[in-house]
Amino acid sequence: MPTGIAILGCGTIGASVATMLLRDHAIITRRSGQRLQLRHVIERDIAKARDAGVPRRLISDTFQTALDDPDTQIVIELIGGLEPARSLVLQALKAGKHVVTANKYLLAIHGTELLAAARKAGRALMFEASCGGTIPIILALTRGLLANDISRVVGIVNGTCNYVLTQMTEQNEPYADALKAAQAAGFAERDPTFDVNGMDSAHKLAVLAGLAFGVNVPFEAIERAGIDTLQDEDLGFAREFGYVCKLLAIGDKADGGIALSVSPTFVPREHMLAAVRGSFNAISVTGHASGETLYYGRGAGGMPTASAVLADCLDVALGSAERLIAQLPAFQKRRPAKFLPARQIVARYYLRVTALDAPGVLAKLAGILSNHGISVAGLTQHERRATPATAAGTVAAVVVMTHETTGGAVAKALKEIDALPEVAAPTVRIRVL
Ligand code: HSE
Repeated sequence: MPTGIAILGCGTIGASVATMLLRDHAIITRRSGQRLQLRHVIERDIAKARDAGVPRRLISDTFQTALDDPDTQIVIELIGGLEPARSLVLQALKAGKHVVTANKYLLAIHGTELLAAARKAGRALMFEASCGGTIPIILALTRGLLANDISRVVGIVNGTCNYVLTQMTEQNEPYADALKAAQAAGFAERDPTFDVNGMDSAHKLAVLAGLAFGVNVPFEAIERAGIDTLQDEDLGFAREFGYVCKLLAIGDKADGGIALSVSPTFVPREHMLAAVRGSFNAISVTGHASGETLYYGRGAGGMPTASAVLADCLDVALGSAERLIAQLPAFQKRRPAKFLPARQIVARYYLRVTALDAPGVLAKLAGILSNHGISVAGLTQHERRATPATAAGTVAAVVVMTHETTGGAVAKALKEIDALPEVAAPTVRIRVL
């Protein structure tokens, strides 16, 4: 008997999953010994599903059709967003269906509730495609590294941002053009704001950190900044100083708790994450026995993501998915872990101060940094031709690379620095890996 499948939502990923189910069944069966059968595509826009090559008889705009079909065992939720996705997933589980989803937003916000519903129903709720697109990172965290105490997860987990940053850095393409191209390629969320403001990466970090550290991650515990406020000048400085700017999601088990953040970060050019280009993602996970491990692949796009969706379906068909979900320590209502506020997160920083090119300014900056216990690793002053001159004199970019310090110390120092009469614009602060 084949395992019957209903796809909920026929957008970029839904269309690719349908294509694979209709076209690649020989490969799937040869590789897994399982037969997957596409039985329903639930899509309000019937023409859209037909354009994706789905036979008309499989398309319906009523979810109940799939719920009532006893030969449909799996519902693949690919509509995205919180509602109605949450209600439909709950409905599917209640109706005895297994659920596969790529919806990181839904998991980050309602994961605990939905996993509890799945356990209660004795069904699986699988989500390999929710993080890192095609990369089997959920598999690595829930099985491959299961014997490890994990201390760190660091990843490039948004294909859109990585594509945009790569185009800006390597081709000098303007931000808006690169973002448009990422949307046209089907990498971006329906509302690309979620990509560029770091929300999407934070959703993924909530899922990954939950699995890695075996905790429930309250979404608000994640300190977040996106690429939407980056300035070309800083990408130039990154290049000049031997770094590449990436949007990184970082989860660290620090002494006092768990530190979670998403932010543009300068990555040393020789670091493996610096070589991750375009829509590719990569996630590094460090375990006490494994040491550092790295997972790489296409983080966005229809077919790469469909590959991960179908891996989950096969896990269900093979009977291993329900057992995995039943014992998963993440997404459990248990004593919440301690999460470090941003001010306690320890990191190195790049600071770009826009200051009047006047005597004594450097000394003042150094004094303030020192008063806050921030040790300077490097300091350069650049008088840039492009830098605007003010009535008071020439403005120069003073770039400071700090040693490790806390977010709190940097915030306090910058408040004082930006209040100096010689400082002409808010100081830019970017984390350094
Ligand atoms: N918009 C997401 C990205 C899709 O660009 O990575 C994959 O989750």
